[in-house]
Amino acid sequence: MRYQPNRDYRSNDEVQTPLELAEALVAHFAPTGRVLEPCRGDGNIYRFLPAGADWCEINEGRDFLKWVGQVDWIITNPPWSKIRAFLGHAMTHSANVVFLLTINHIWTKARIRDIQRANFGIREICLVEMPVTFPQSGFQLGAVHLQRGWQGEIRLSRLAGQTGAERPRKNPQKAALPAAVSVSESAP
Ligand SMILES: C[S@@+](CC[C@H](N)C(=O)[O-])C[C@H]1O[C@@H](n2cnc3c(N)ncnc32)[C@H](O)[C@@H]1O
Repeated sequence: MRYQPNRDYRSNDEVQTPLELAEALVAHFAPTGRVLEPCRGDGNIYRFLPAGADWCEINEGRDFLKWVGQVDWIITNPPWSKIRAFLGHAMTHSANVVFLLTINHIWTKARIRDIQRANFGIREICLVEMPVTFPQSGFQLGAVHLQRGWQGEIRLSRLAGQTGAERPRKNPQKAALPAAVSVSESAP
């Protein structure tokens, strides 16, 4: 059977960030000042933000793409089908933007152009292990920190407590097969 890496793909537009990961992300970036969770969903990230943080959530009648204001930090797991619109709006309304996403999202020519035109730079990419509740794919998950005016180097980090080691395979016997057998298995 042909290998299909995305055959169980589901949109991440509604997938909530697990609480433990949400807490670790907020601890890692430690947002201060005026903070906005632009699409809070169940509030798993929002509940760890400083008191008084603002929020939007389209299902509760607050469309972030219509939100007007200025904050110091926006931190969220955005709807992945709306990255371009969310990123553009976030960079207009916040000096710091942290998005949890598969990091391929920010390496397209269009995204890099958007970031540069907004006078932002990528300050940090914090690698994150893919939660089991997220749509699985071969793409690396990360929390990307963009900052207005940043022209320095990109810091590559890992979330505290995460080693980056691969999780055990579902079928360890398959992993142990010799390479020649794997090749014939993947033939169409
Ligand atoms: C991937 S979920 C993540 C929820 C939450 N940020 C978290 O990390 O657990 C994305 C959320 O964005 C919301 N959403 C989608 N479009 C939106 C918009 N234009 N304005 C505000 N929220 C939106 C969805 O309803 C959903 O709750």
